[in-house]
Amino acid sequence: MNRGSRPRLGILLSGRGSNFEAIAKNVFKGSLDCDIGFVFSNKPDAPGLELARKFGLPYGTIPSAGMGRAEFDAQVASLLLGKKIDLVCLAGYMRILSGHFVSKFPNRLLNIHPSLLPAFPGLDAQYQALQHGVKLTGCTVHFVDEQLDSGPILLQAPVPVLDEDTLETLSQRILAEEHRIYTEAIAWVLEGNFRIEGRRVLRT
Ligand code: GRF
Repeated sequence: MNRGSRPRLGILLSGRGSNFEAIAKNVFKGSLDCDIGFVFSNKPDAPGLELARKFGLPYGTIPSAGMGRAEFDAQVASLLLGKKIDLVCLAGYMRILSGHFVSKFPNRLLNIHPSLLPAFPGLDAQYQALQHGVKLTGCTVHFVDEQLDSGPILLQAPVPVLDEDTLETLSQRILAEEHRIYTEAIAWVLEGNFRIEGRRVLRT
C-alpha cells in the first residue's frame, strides 16, 4: 500500500478516542504492521488528542469555525496527504465527509459504527437498539462513502442484548468488540487481499 516503507494510518476523531487507543496499542506491540502518521480532530479539546500527545504521536486540529464543509474537508484532506497517510480511519469522527474528501482516499477510508448496519445508522446507535427491542446488535467496520454510515461492509461482530442491559452495559460490550474488529479490518485492508463487488467486500 505504501511506497516501500510501512503504511501510515491517519486517525480522525472527535471525542474520547478509545478506538484510537486500541489501534495504537496494537501498532505499538506489533500486531498491526503500520505506523500512525497523524491523529486529527475537528475538536481541539478532544480527549483523543491528549492521548496522541501522551503516546508521542503527531497530532493536530484545524478550527472549523466559519468554514463550509467542502472547504474544511479540503484542508483536512491536504493535511493528511501532506503527511503521506495511506489509510484513514474514522474513530468517533462526528462529521459527514464531503465527496471531495472521499475521492481522495479511494478504498482507503474506514469507519466503525456501534450497530449491525444497516440497522441503526446515525447517532446513539446503542440507544436505538435498546429502544427497538432487538435481541442482537453489534458493530460494523465499513468503507466510507458520502452517505452516513453507508459504504461496503468489511467486518461485523454480533453482541446479544441481555434483559438486564442498560445503555451503559450494552455500549461497553459493543465497545470491546469494536476494539477487536477495527484492528482486524485495518490489517485486512493493509494486506490488500480483498476485492469489492457491488456492496460486498470479498477475500481474494
Ligand atoms: C464508537 O462507539 C464508534 O463506534 C462510534 O463513535 C464511538 C467512538 O468512541 N463511531 P471512541 O471515541 O473510539 O471511544
